[in-house]
Amino acid sequence: MNKMEQEELDSNSLDKFLSLVHKHTGISMGQNKKTLIQGRLSPRIRKLGLGSYNKYIDYMNSNKDEVQEFINLVTTNETSFFRTPRVWDFFIKDFLPNWSKANPKKPLKIWSGASSSGEEVYTIAICCEEHRLKNPGFTYQIIGSDISSEVLALAEKAEYSGRSIEAFKTSNRVLFDKYMIASGDYFKVHPDIRAKIKLNNHNLFNPPKDRNFFDIVFLRNVLIYFEPSDIEKVLANISKGLVMNGVLIIGESESLSSLKTSFKYKLPLVYEKNEDQIG
Ligand SMILES: C[S@@+](CC[C@H](N)C(=O)[O-])C[C@H]1O[C@@H](n2cnc3c(N)ncnc32)[C@H](O)[C@@H]1O
Repeated sequence: MNKMEQEELDSNSLDKFLSLVHKHTGISMGQNKKTLIQGRLSPRIRKLGLGSYNKYIDYMNSNKDEVQEFINLVTTNETSFFRTPRVWDFFIKDFLPNWSKANPKKPLKIWSGASSSGEEVYTIAICCEEHRLKNPGFTYQIIGSDISSEVLALAEKAEYSGRSIEAFKTSNRVLFDKYMIASGDYFKVHPDIRAKIKLNNHNLFNPPKDRNFFDIVFLRNVLIYFEPSDIEKVLANISKGLVMNGVLIIGESESLSSLKTSFKYKLPLVYEKNEDQIG
């Protein structure tokens, strides 16, 4: 980044960026995120030949398509296959068998609400496929959504390498070899698994299109970016998408305690919708 750009991000301009981040994503960042904002935005500002952070704000105001670029730059998309193994233990050993027993004829409807580059939805699909092989009548639908078009494009591609597959490759070799196809430097998700997933661009601050539809929602490692009052808004939307007694799974650094929501605690990281969301 050139020095002039750095100097231009004074606390006034930083504040403007922090409110734009909040306006477009719901993510709350404090002044301590100055380095992150600079590091993420300065290559874009350089590429556009704008020369200053304030000019970039003007540019965004007059080019609505830039808002999606901005969202792609300010979101953090860290994820991996089988992230947080105890969640997958619960899903495979507890949720899937019990749900199938209670709903022998219904398709299981699953939503991953911040699916990033796809590792989470493909992990869900692998677990469901394994369950289906042992329970042939079982059917399922999986929707993944995110606010970043960049990670959704990666999820569409379904090609992975490096950290996102490392733990999967070493700790779950049988499934890895079964569902990941080596292709040069990366591994491609098996086309049968890829075909199970639908992907959408969706902001969690908007209500879901499908009401009282999903049996389980994975909403992991995204609530940490929001203020408590915003988490309540997001959870009200999630609740609208879930059936009564539907299950919500959150990330390991997240908790719903002391928030006003329609969810009750079931197990660590696992909640259940126990009242309808009004509105
Ligand atoms: C750290 S990743 C979590 C990925 C995955 N759920 C996991 O746990 O591995 C957080 C994701 O939330 C998305 N995100 C942030 N704000 C969002 C919003 N308002 N609506 C939808 N997705 C959002 C980001 O784009 C990012 O891909």
